[in-house]
Amino acid sequence: MEMNNQRNQLVYRLWAPVYDAVLERLFRQGRRRAMEQLGLQAGERVCLVGVGTGADLLHLPKGVNSIGVDLSEAMLARAEKKLPIAGCDIELRIGDAQALPLDDGGFDAVILNLILSVVPDPARCMSEAIRVLRPGGRIVIFDKFLPDGTQPTWGRRLTNAFSTRLGTDLNRRLGDILSGLPCEVVHDEPSILWGMYRVVLLRQTAWQVGHR
Ligand SMILES: C[S@@+](CC[C@H](N)C(=O)[O-])C[C@H]1O[C@@H](n2cnc3c(N)ncnc32)[C@H](O)[C@@H]1O
Repeated sequence: MEMNNQRNQLVYRLWAPVYDAVLERLFRQGRRRAMEQLGLQAGERVCLVGVGTGADLLHLPKGVNSIGVDLSEAMLARAEKKLPIAGCDIELRIGDAQALPLDDGGFDAVILNLILSVVPDPARCMSEAIRVLRPGGRIVIFDKFLPDGTQPTWGRRLTNAFSTRLGTDLNRRLGDILSGLPCEVVHDEPSILWGMYRVVLLRQTAWQVGHR
């Protein structure tokens, strides 16, 4: 099943009340590791794309300025309940990860946790993350991917028919998403669920005003 924004809004409205209770523990280790890899410093600006219920906000180091963007009002309402977080300046905004409501080049870092497997067009989402980064800025990703150059097994295809209905696609390849985009992989390590999830650090390699 193809993902689309309308369905995502519906699915994540249903997820919002139970998301943290069901998934926070499972993803905690990956989130921590992603945050470590990103190495945010006090005074830096970070954008959390598809911030959801704000589980990553709890792992931000003190002194960082952040904006979280999400399509779902219900998920953002959950994130709002986590605020304020001592030592962190956090703003939440409704918006589409594929057309971020943010200016070019305003961020030192972008967090793309559990969003590339969710948005209808992950390459568009990645391109937007690159656009809002300052030259040389960094992106961290914690998400599940199909290994590059492989095809999904029948079992995985079948599971995916179910998981896309729950709002996430198991069969996206990071290599396909990054293809042709101005960024390089700095670090890539296996994470939870026997390496199905990965933590990947990227650096933006070129930047043009109006890159879209
Ligand atoms: C699996 S949740 C991940 C949330 C959060 N990043 C986390 O790590 O827990 C996916 C999130 O993406 C949001 N989302 C789905 N489509 C989106 C879009 N086109 N633009 C922005 N957010 C979107 C959903 O509302 C949901 O909050």
